[in-house]
Amino acid sequence: MIIAIDGTVSSGKSTAARNVARELGLLYINTGLMYRGVAAYCLKENIDTADKEKVAEAAASLKIDLVSAADGQHVLVNGTDLTAEAKGPGITVAVSDVADNVKVRERLVAEQRRLGMEAKPGAVMEGRDIGSVVFPDADIKFFITAPAEVRAHRRYLEFLENGKKVPEETVLAQVLERDKRDRERPVGALVKMPGAVELDTGDLTREEVTERMVREIRARKITGD
Ligand code: DC
Repeated sequence: MIIAIDGTVSSGKSTAARNVARELGLLYINTGLMYRGVAAYCLKENIDTADKEKVAEAAASLKIDLVSAADGQHVLVNGTDLTAEAKGPGITVAVSDVADNVKVRERLVAEQRRLGMEAKPGAVMEGRDIGSVVFPDADIKFFITAPAEVRAHRRYLEFLENGKKVPEETVLAQVLERDKRDRERPVGALVKMPGAVELDTGDLTREEVTERMVREIRARKITGD
């Protein structure tokens, strides 16, 4: 069983995907973390992420593993945990370069298909192109979003919690920029697929989002793998 979750930045899709996976006993796969892992590796090895050939060459030989930990999913690149770097503030430009790299995408999409197919009884896979490219035949597709102002406010609060005071207008500008990049990427762009269940999380709690998604999945009576 494959549950595909795509959506905009800071829409709450990661939390939702994790909760749905836990509720249904499925494997949770955060594909964004794989792109982040490649970007973190490039920064560590001083590989210029704008150099598409070099990045593709490096990515081709990397072993990328996602593992569960108490504080969420971690990414291991050639056995080294690069989660902190992959999620750090300095990664944004590098990860966008990596996600725009067609050869890196081919490699990671193949890996994601393998992970999804091997997962028993199935997986909840989250990203931008899961329903469109990775698993176009997914049992159910979700498209998760919220108004840009709401998403920017969430990020603003997250930054504050981590001791960083960034003006809310700056955070909103970053969110809009990332939306544009996600939607205009030549390969693997974010789109709402026909038939995808769209959820606007703007006025919903995390619990309500999970509850609605689980209800939709159960209503479809999806069985088997
Ligand atoms: O979901 P996230 O913000 O952790 O994703 C990190 C980056 O990778 C972001 O620039 C979008 C990109 N991405 C992608 O292009 N395709 C995916 N399936 C997942 C993420």
